[in-house]
Amino acid sequence: MRNSYGPVNMATVSLKNVKKIYDNKVTAVHDFNLEIADKEFIVLVGPSGCGKSTTLRMIAGLEEISDGDLIIGDKRMNDVEPKDRDIAMVFQSYALYPHMTVYENMAFALKLRKFPKDEIDRRVREAAEILDITQYLDRKPKALSGGQRQRVAIGRAIVREPKVFLMDEPLSNLDAKLRNQMRAEIIKLRQRIDTTFVYVTHDQTEAMTLGDRIVIMKDGFIQQIGTPQEVFNSPANLFVAGFIGSPQMNFFDGKLVKEGSGYSISVHGAKMQLDADVQKKLADKGLDSMDVTIGIRPEHVHFAPEGGEHTISAQVDVSEMMGSEIYLHVSSNGKDIVLRVPTTELPAEHRGGIPYGTQIRFTFPSELIHLFDPSTERNLLV
Ligand SMILES: Nc1ncnc2c1ncn2[C@@H]1O[C@H](COP(=O)(O)OP(=O)(O)OP(=O)(O)O)[C@@H](O)[C@H]1O
Ligand SMILES: [Mg+2]
Repeated sequence: MRNSYGPVNMATVSLKNVKKIYDNKVTAVHDFNLEIADKEFIVLVGPSGCGKSTTLRMIAGLEEISDGDLIIGDKRMNDVEPKDRDIAMVFQSYALYPHMTVYENMAFALKLRKFPKDEIDRRVREAAEILDITQYLDRKPKALSGGQRQRVAIGRAIVREPKVFLMDEPLSNLDAKLRNQMRAEIIKLRQRIDTTFVYVTHDQTEAMTLGDRIVIMKDGFIQQIGTPQEVFNSPANLFVAGFIGSPQMNFFDGKLVKEGSGYSISVHGAKMQLDADVQKKLADKGLDSMDVTIGIRPEHVHFAPEGGEHTISAQVDVSEMMGSEIYLHVSSNGKDIVLRVPTTELPAEHRGGIPYGTQIRFTFPSELIHLFDPSTERNLLV
């Protein structure tokens, strides 16, 4: 399939100050700005109602753009008909035509466009090969599993050899196991058909594993654009910090304390010296002592075998046994804190979980903390 993609199909997608106001006056997307590189895989992610589908549908031409510009390649597309945008879209509900075979389903759009028969045949067979559904070409959709049907739906889009591939939650109808499998399939697909992808999901794992870059949205506003590593390591604000990563980051109310030229934090009765790099960032911003929200990921919280001023006491609520690790929910000063503990680090009698009410102490390395301004919710370290 790669061969049929030439330079003609180079597709950058640029959204400039794009806005969507629905008739009911709901502003679903505010001032969306994004430059998508040719062959880049972009994932739009965020909670329900944040404007992901609206953005995708504006790119597809299924929804009018209220303001701003959509440019694909070097052409402004705002007023171009969907069918002339050289885009294919795969939806969550992929509704195959039940009375047609897999082959006919995949060939249908090309037939409508009056493609020659042998060209249709070549494209359908190539796509079927890529998706590993050649053996089902003569079957009707009802004789396929959910995952196989989803492949056919993707095949229908591939045969059109679009410049840009849009997918709106294509895996959310599948069960967890199949979803993981299909996620791997999409990574493979992406390696085989070199095209630009914009993929919508509300699942942060899907976003992290598929995206070259991720666009995190909330209430119609972009919160952050970055590589999976960037958004994980340097979340722009509290929302992104809580949204990316599972189980989610722990947050504590604490104080940043400036003494002389040095900084430390105090949190739940513990005092922690901050890492030199962190201190430098705070000094560069000229920050004084202030209230802060401290973020630490569950995998970075450890038991503290001995007490000490850098440790925090807590009481065990629930152990979630995950196999190779437990998610230990504890409460500390009325806050629910989660620790991810590898079972190998636990004494044999506690590998199945730690009893409710057990008193523990925990700590975390200060170089791994995130600091947020509680009033603006912005990350103080980026
Ligand atoms: N046709 C419409 N008319 C009016 N308002 C709409 C329309 N479609 C969506 N909205 C509103 O626009 C906002 C964004 O909706 P959108 O479907 O883009 O969200 P989403 O991020 O795709 O959510 P989900 O994860 O639930 O699919 C929501 O508040 C929604 O109610
Ligand atoms: Mg949606």
